[in-house]
Amino acid sequence: MNLFRLDASIRIEGSVSRQLADVAEAAWLETHPSQPITRRDIGTSPLPADVWGVAAFAGWVPEEDRTDAQRTALSVGAELADELIGADAYVFALPLYNFGVSQHVKTWIDLVLTDARFSPGVESPLAGRPASLIVTRGGGYGEGTPKYGWDHATPYYRRILGDQFGLDLHVSEVELTLADVNPAMESLRPLAKELLEAGTAKAASHGKILAERVTVSA
Ligand SMILES: Cc1cc2nc3c(=O)[nH]c(=O)nc-3n(C[C@H](O)[C@H](O)[C@H](O)COP(=O)(O)O)c2cc1C
Repeated sequence: MNLFRLDASIRIEGSVSRQLADVAEAAWLETHPSQPITRRDIGTSPLPADVWGVAAFAGWVPEEDRTDAQRTALSVGAELADELIGADAYVFALPLYNFGVSQHVKTWIDLVLTDARFSPGVESPLAGRPASLIVTRGGGYGEGTPKYGWDHATPYYRRILGDQFGLDLHVSEVELTLADVNPAMESLRPLAKELLEAGTAKAASHGKILAERVTVSA
């Protein structure tokens, strides 16, 4: 029983996505206390962005003709793919940055997709496995708000993790996380508190669902 956890916040102190991922992880550990957790932190230890461009074409070069750089690039993608395939359940803690996906997350996804086991058209080796997706946003993006439709990250996360990787996604979203530190958002603080509480409760219940799902199918 192995949980894979991906953190992408570029901060540790005060990170709401890490806080919720801790909650989901703790709920998982209640059922699987001594099982290993594979951690990848692309917020504090990003993957080199230029590796993807090399890996993207290296797959078409016959193995014996590959350069050292191409071999290395492909091995990075394979290592990331191995981490995913070797797990039974997943926690992804992914903030919204600049109305979209951070380059750290994009590089991680792009590199995973260079591995032949994740090629489009190939049945995903992760199909049907349970996953918790935690998304944090500083502002508000609900229907009727000025920034409605500006969160270009969450639909993409759902597309890749849910549709492309085939994971059974349980999504917990917390927004208005900047209300406490942004004076212009002062009136939104009570709502922000409510959203944080609701998101935390969801993350806990998703961690529990992950743990139960893996136990049942194992
Ligand atoms: C560089 C940067 C860009 C950000 N861009 C956005 C944004 O476009 N929209 C938004 O709602 N929040 C934005 N935020 C706020 C984060 O989404 C928010 O702080 C979130 O809680 C980050 O996750 P964390 O708490 O786990 O660090 C940004 C934060 C940083 C540091």
